[in-house]
Order: sequence, then structure tokens, then C-alpha cells
Amino acid sequence: MNINLEEKFASHYHQKAHAVYFTPGRVNLIGEHIDYNGGLVMPCAITLGTWVAIAPNSDNKFRFKSLNFDATTVLEANTLNQKDGNAWSNYPIGVINEFIQDGKEITGLDFLFFGNIPIGSGLSSSASIEIATAFALNDHFKLGYDKLEMVKIAKRVENDFIGLNSGIMDQFAVAFGEKNKAIVLDCETLKYKMVDVELKNYVLAIINTNKPRELADSKYNERVAECQTALKLLNGEITLQYLCELTAEKLALHSHLIEDETILNRATHVVKENDRVHLAAKALNSGNLEEFGRLMYASHQSLRTLYEVSGKELDAVVDFCSDYEHVIGARMTGAGFGGCAIALLEKGFEEDFATHLTTYYVDKIGYPAAIYISEIGSGPYLVTDEHR
Ligand code: GLA
Repeated sequence: MNINLEEKFASHYHQKAHAVYFTPGRVNLIGEHIDYNGGLVMPCAITLGTWVAIAPNSDNKFRFKSLNFDATTVLEANTLNQKDGNAWSNYPIGVINEFIQDGKEITGLDFLFFGNIPIGSGLSSSASIEIATAFALNDHFKLGYDKLEMVKIAKRVENDFIGLNSGIMDQFAVAFGEKNKAIVLDCETLKYKMVDVELKNYVLAIINTNKPRELADSKYNERVAECQTALKLLNGEITLQYLCELTAEKLALHSHLIEDETILNRATHVVKENDRVHLAAKALNSGNLEEFGRLMYASHQSLRTLYEVSGKELDAVVDFCSDYEHVIGARMTGAGFGGCAIALLEKGFEEDFATHLTTYYVDKIGYPAAIYISEIGSGPYLVTDEHR
């Protein structure tokens, strides 16, 4: 971080920050729209993230300021159970509210946030803010929550306070991430394994389409509802709690129950994508990056045609990648409808890739994409001198 958050805190609040915490964002390597269907996902934390500085205050108010936005929100302790329009501050407010609902005593605090995750890019800036807040409160008030409890609280904020019916992947990924490892998470049991990501002669490129994710939340909730419809129809003949309990063969056997082609397409994506994560984990373990890349392209194709959460911007990026010699796999990552794609790019071609992709993308879409070469970073930490 090249911003001195403590200095900014002191000049904004006229008091010293007690502590600064960091929480990363995430990319999902494969397993998209799978978490709320009870299957396997494979996210990892990135080095972009959210920093938050906090200090207690004497008037028992809650002040939320971010260096990324203009306004400061000031709330009395007894109004923390109400949403503040669509403001970013709803994420920390929602977390404090959940802690209070859970019987914890939380007294007035000043918060100063700073994030370098591009907002609305699908790299989980919201989960990062939620977990950063939870982690800071847990440490400051010595509340004794473990990581999984904080992940579940943050998910409740997203579902009940914000109103997005998202799964658990993002909060889990940013809380449990480890340097140079991916998390293979079973979203039904919440059992997980950390897998080494050895990219050998490749780097992980993140390409932000810069497309604003308008209506993304309502379309996301629509996909969740479509999966529930599929589940309900299938439960006419078999008993299932999640679509990911099905194999592709079993789905085919019962597919006559789903007359609507769109709903069947959604279910087909889910079941096959879940299989791909199993294959991708094997490929990664055996160092077969070409196979991993092939699965990434197959995942994108399915999200494009069966699940319909891509869009011309993400497709333009992935189409470019599949024709570019030095990329072995690419796909959209996260919810879709804009946001980011990821690509496995051969080392040494970073500049060439950026130049050619930019020309191609501007020509097709009319404005540039942003390209980052990303490292797989660690989960939340208290910022000390060794991080500065
Ligand atoms: C968003 C949600 C996650 C997950 C992904 C799609 O990031 O927050 O829970 O469903 O979309 O895989």
C-alpha cells in the first residue's frame, strides 16, 4: 500500500489509529455459480485488497470514511440495524449489526478504509470490506470468533442486509486465502483443501472489462432462483438438497422433468462445472497446466452459452485469449455480467499481451480494459512494521 493510512486517519479524525488491518480480494480459478448449488469451487486470495484503520471514540458513534469515496457516514449505535441507501458503508454497518444481534457489546469506533480492488470488478471488494471489518472488530474487542464464524456472519450480511442471495465462496476465499495456494472448497460441507498453485512458466493475468456491472445483482438472484426451480422439479422423482449432488449422467436420466430449456441449461452448467473443478484440482496437483487451461476455456463456454452470465465484453477478452498463442486458458471469474476475466499467460509476454489485447478490445468494445499481473496473496492480517 503506498498510502499512509495512519497519517490520513490522524488528519481526518484528529486522533491516532489504534490498529490497521488488511483483507484481500479474490479470483475464482474455476467453479463458477457453484457455491450456492453445494459443489466445489477453487478461489484464491489476491494481493489487491482493503485496509482499515480503527480507533475507539468517546461519543459512542460509528464513523465510516473511505479514501475511495467522498462522504463520511456517522451513525448512532442504535441505528446500525438500518441500511444506508446503497452506500458502501452498508458492508461494515451490516457486520457490526450482526455482531450486536449475536449479543456482542460493540462501542463507538472511527473507521478509515482504503481499497485498491477496482470497485464493481467482481474481485470481491465487498467481501473484502466485510471480512476486514469483522477481523478488526474481533481483534479490537477480543470477541473470540474463529474465521469460519466470521465468514458465516459476513455471508448473512450479504444475504439479509444487502439482499444478494450469494453463496459463501467470496467471504471464505478472502478469509482463508494463503500465499500461492488455491482453496478447493466443498460448499456443502465447508471442508476444504489448500492446493499449491505452481504456475511454472505462466503468470495469472486479471483483465478487468471495465464494464459497469449494472443490474448484476438482480440477474444474479434470478440465476439462484432458476437453480432452485430446477431442484424443485428434479425433486419430483429423486431427493436432492443441491444440484451438485447430481452427476451429468443422473441429470440426463431425470432431465424430462425439466421442460423449460433455459432451466435445463442452467442445471447442466452447474453439474458439468462441478465435474470440471474435480478435474481441475487433479490437473493442478499433477502439474498439468495445459489441461487446467483447457478446463478454464470449457468453463467459460458453459457460462456463456448455458448459464448466460458472460456478455460481449468478457467474451471479447476470452476470444482474444483463445487466439493468442501465449495464453493456455482463460475464463470470466466471479458472478459475471461484466467484471473480470483471468488468463494463464506465458511469462515474458505480459507487455505484448497487454498491447494486442488493448487494441483488439478497444476496437470491439469502444473503451480499454485494464490488465493486471496478479500474485496469489494471503488472508487477513494485522498490519505491522514488517508489512510496511
Ligand atoms: C459472486 C457471489 C459468489 C459466487 C460467484 C459466482 O461472486 O458472491 O457467492 O456465487 O458470484 O461463482
